[in-house]
Amino acid sequence: MSRPAVIEIDLQALKANLATCKQRAPQSKTIAVVKADAYGHGAIKVAQTLAETADMFAVSCSEEGMLLRQQGIVTPILLLEGCFGLDDWQRAYEQGFQLVIHHQAQLDALAVQPETRQFDVWLKVDTGMHRLGFSPEQVTEVYARLLADKRVASVKIITHLASADTPESDFTQRQLACFNRLLEQLTPKPQVSVANSAGIVAHANSARDWNRPGIMLYGIDPMAAPGKDIGLIPVMSFYSQIIALHQIEAGEYVGYGNAWQAQRPSLIATVAAGYGDGYPRNAPSGTPVFINGFLAPVTGRVSMDMLCVDVTDLPKAELGDRVELWGKHISVNKVAECAGTIGYELVTRLPQRVPRQYF
Ligand SMILES: Cc1ncc(COP(=O)(O)O)c(C=O)c1O
Repeated sequence: MSRPAVIEIDLQALKANLATCKQRAPQSKTIAVVKADAYGHGAIKVAQTLAETADMFAVSCSEEGMLLRQQGIVTPILLLEGCFGLDDWQRAYEQGFQLVIHHQAQLDALAVQPETRQFDVWLKVDTGMHRLGFSPEQVTEVYARLLADKRVASVKIITHLASADTPESDFTQRQLACFNRLLEQLTPKPQVSVANSAGIVAHANSARDWNRPGIMLYGIDPMAAPGKDIGLIPVMSFYSQIIALHQIEAGEYVGYGNAWQAQRPSLIATVAAGYGDGYPRNAPSGTPVFINGFLAPVTGRVSMDMLCVDVTDLPKAELGDRVELWGKHISVNKVAECAGTIGYELVTRLPQRVPRQYF
């Protein structure tokens, strides 16, 4: 038997989440965001699964787009940060990638492309996040310039929301007001894209012609504080097994640095998964895992290949029992919260050594 740490990916759940997404915004087309290896879920399998239902895929760079094309994915692909260098322009032309243009340097690079080439571009406007995009004051002029350029087949307008996951903030509505003011000035009226997952979930007025869901496709709640259940199904489950059990006395320690001390006679299960598998090292004692239908707390420091769990209160815990580190019973957001990070980070930094199994 091989090492039991494994990532299971539920492709039916993925399809169901895209359907949920579409139901929430039936007028919008969907750009499924599959960057960073589909948030660690495996971009090829995810794109193959969604190829017929997503209207477009979004990736962060042309290399990620190429990976999909090489597997025969013909769905339109948007490069969210556009082209970085000349190679990207070449690939974008050859593969028909759609491009975000967010900066003067990209306009300059477009201007030296042969006039025989044509690109579908998404002009990015900065409505307040100040990460990428032209200021609203610049956009009217850039829009006109793009429309007049022979190399431009179409222009759409895109912006990104900074705080859609925090509904108590009015920032999203301020961004939307800024965006709407800008759109009034543009002729002809372009197609536009605003909403990420949190926009789709919590700000119905951010759903426009094209939505860009990422995290919600993977069944992870996009809201900063657990939002209302909208029926998303976790796609990824991270499992391993109990590989050792030890009865210890009160006063004894578990793990590196003696960071956890038993307050009573305790049964400690050692689980074959650690930070070398992507489980966060800074998950403190008390972070839950799921064994045989019950929650049990991580005890002591997470090591590279293993972590320990106090299973004293479980009715049953045996060698070989399956342990869910996150998945359908413990959300990755819960583990992330314990570790002081976000679910996005945990799923995107899983190493290759943990095999992915798809079903
Ligand atoms: C420009 C852009 N659009 C959409 C998304 C998807 O966001 P989310 O995963 O929160 O839905 C991202 C993700 O970071 C992004 O950068």
